[in-house]
Amino acid sequence: MPLRRVLEPEVMDSDEEARDYDAMDHAGVNAAFCDDLTALAPDLGAVLDVGTGTARIPVALCARRADARVTAVDLAPSMLAVAAENVEREGLGDAIRLQRIDAKRLPFDDATFSAVMSNSIIHHVPEPETALAEMVRVLRPGGVLFVRDLARPEDEAAVAAIVASHAADDTPAQRALLEASLRAALTVDEVVVRVQPHGVEAAAVRVTSDRHWTLAWRKPAPGRA
Ligand SMILES: C[S@@+](CC[C@H](N)C(=O)[O-])C[C@H]1O[C@@H](n2cnc3c(N)ncnc32)[C@H](O)[C@@H]1O
Repeated sequence: MPLRRVLEPEVMDSDEEARDYDAMDHAGVNAAFCDDLTALAPDLGAVLDVGTGTARIPVALCARRADARVTAVDLAPSMLAVAAENVEREGLGDAIRLQRIDAKRLPFDDATFSAVMSNSIIHHVPEPETALAEMVRVLRPGGVLFVRDLARPEDEAAVAAIVASHAADDTPAQRALLEASLRAALTVDEVVVRVQPHGVEAAAVRVTSDRHWTLAWRKPAPGRA
């Protein structure tokens, strides 16, 4: 039987957790995220980053794309405090706007953003269908939705193999965090059933590494082929 989903706490909300998260080296996965997004959406426009954490991805995106303007939202004040330091240090205060907002209730009109991106938050959210529906709602027709997260492994052996392969040199606490996050993650099929009611085809959700799925989708625009 496949592993059942075991939730993690929704937000990472102590100062220590925020600093620890920010100190982890995600530069490679963040660069890959930005490369994949910009390949799909060369015309970025107004971008929403849902669950921005310490804003490392908006910072990396704006460093390579001077035209990018990102609204970066998170529910955890401690993460946003570190995010503000990161944005300030890079001189990106005009390009990145930080806001404390719940992904399940985005206070934006329908069709506000030309790109909506989100990395590694769906496994934190107890009702991921609500957050995914909100991302589709605030996306403009013709805009790009780009969501990436961990995928829940098939069995205990697969959990152990991923932790051994990707966290062997990490601290015990970091290994435990990866393991808990894998157990809290959705499978590709679970993502598909949550996004199909909002017009996203199953083919838009794919396994993209030994531990990730990616939803890459352009919202249909009436009259555009
Ligand atoms: C693993 S971190 C990922 C941060 C960032 N996207 C990155 O890739 O570095 C998950 C983030 O999701 C945020 N989060 C969890 N539930 C949320 C919600 N309902 N609304 C907004 N942010 C949420 C957490 O506070 C945390 O900052």
